[in-house]
Amino acid sequence: EEGAALILAAPERRRSNDSLYDYRPSNDLLYLTGFEEPESAALFLPGHPEHPFVAFVRRRDPAREVWDGARLGVEAACERLGAQRAHPIDELYARLPELLVDRRRLVYALGEDEEADREVVRCVRKARWLARRGRAAPLAILDPRELLHEQRLLKAPEEIAALRRACQVSAEGHLRGMRCTRPGMREYELQAEIEYHFKQAGARAPGYTTIVGAGANACVLHYVDNRAPLRDGDLVLVDAGAEVQWYTGDVTRTWPVNGRFTGYQRTVYDLVLRAQMDVIREVRPGLPWPELHRRAVRTLTEGLVDLGVIEGPVERALEQKTYARYYMHGTGHWLGMDVHDVGAYARRGEEGRPLEPGMVFTVEPGLYFPPDDADCPEPWRGIGVRIEDDVLVTADGCEVLTAAAPKEPEEIEEIVGRPA
Ligand code: GLY
Ligand code: MN
Ligand code: MN
Repeated sequence: EEGAALILAAPERRRSNDSLYDYRPSNDLLYLTGFEEPESAALFLPGHPEHPFVAFVRRRDPAREVWDGARLGVEAACERLGAQRAHPIDELYARLPELLVDRRRLVYALGEDEEADREVVRCVRKARWLARRGRAAPLAILDPRELLHEQRLLKAPEEIAALRRACQVSAEGHLRGMRCTRPGMREYELQAEIEYHFKQAGARAPGYTTIVGAGANACVLHYVDNRAPLRDGDLVLVDAGAEVQWYTGDVTRTWPVNGRFTGYQRTVYDLVLRAQMDVIREVRPGLPWPELHRRAVRTLTEGLVDLGVIEGPVERALEQKTYARYYMHGTGHWLGMDVHDVGAYARRGEEGRPLEPGMVFTVEPGLYFPPDDADCPEPWRGIGVRIEDDVLVTADGCEVLTAAAPKEPEEIEEIVGRPA
């Protein structure tokens, strides 16, 4: 009750000349208020007798609204946002000092926006000046993120519903992608087919830049160029997720362009799938987070030694991390409003946090054999496979939210190139 919390909207960003990037509100503000407009802020004053929540929004502006669309405006803000008071955003820094008087702590995320930081610090100084005759002013500026992100890590039922939908739509997009794949099409055409499904199914946009990597492009982890042709005989790796109600899916599937795995492709695919299933089978409350990666690494390393890609024995390969040349990323990450969602993977003093019901994360092992890796036996070079699903931790295990995207190789071979 002695604190105040100020949460600012993300700034708009210029793409080039006078056009802006598609506006994506900041997740912390969305999480707390649901408000989607740029140039806004929420000020929380817990325990305040008249206005525990003060909203700052853009003024109505008929001339601007002709160009940019309707704004909520100050008059409608209280009712729509549940605030007790609303002011125009251009008055934020003029009003803030007085609103901070008698508040001992200001909760505000320093370090995101230097200009805003300067203004906020100036307001705290001004509040101290106003408080000099027997009132109080903030002693400290505290970061909201540890607390807020801990809350965001454990999903509420409404959040799980949104994630469920985002994951379903993401998985369906992959299914559509498989169906319309044919040799000779471009990576971006496949991207367009998948994203078309996302939008048709009610997603606002992809939750991150879609990766479509054909052939050896699959070995570039964040490949987004997406311009190469899909060649007969190659695999294509697609990492694409739909964003629904500001929550995103994150799904990867890898399939043969012509609908048939070669023997070598199938061997790599089966190994990655086995690693993924081994991890998913382990997921349950209480399991420490790092165990998931350990499990994936063990299965992949055993397989790589068996194939003669890396030298055994397995225990030494694990110790010396020789697998890391072909499996260089983690096995998963929290998922939510951000694709790499917020929340600590280990709390202070912990090696890894135990899983809890309501956590959502990805399971995404892969193997990538670069085309120019002289140490890699020739037949494997240029093959890249990742299989990524999103799971919700339940009371006694987990639920795979992206199960609608086929991943059994026989099923994939049935579907690829066969429009529904
Ligand atoms: N799509 C980004 C990732 O899988 O982490
Ligand atoms: Mn992904
Ligand atoms: Mn991921």
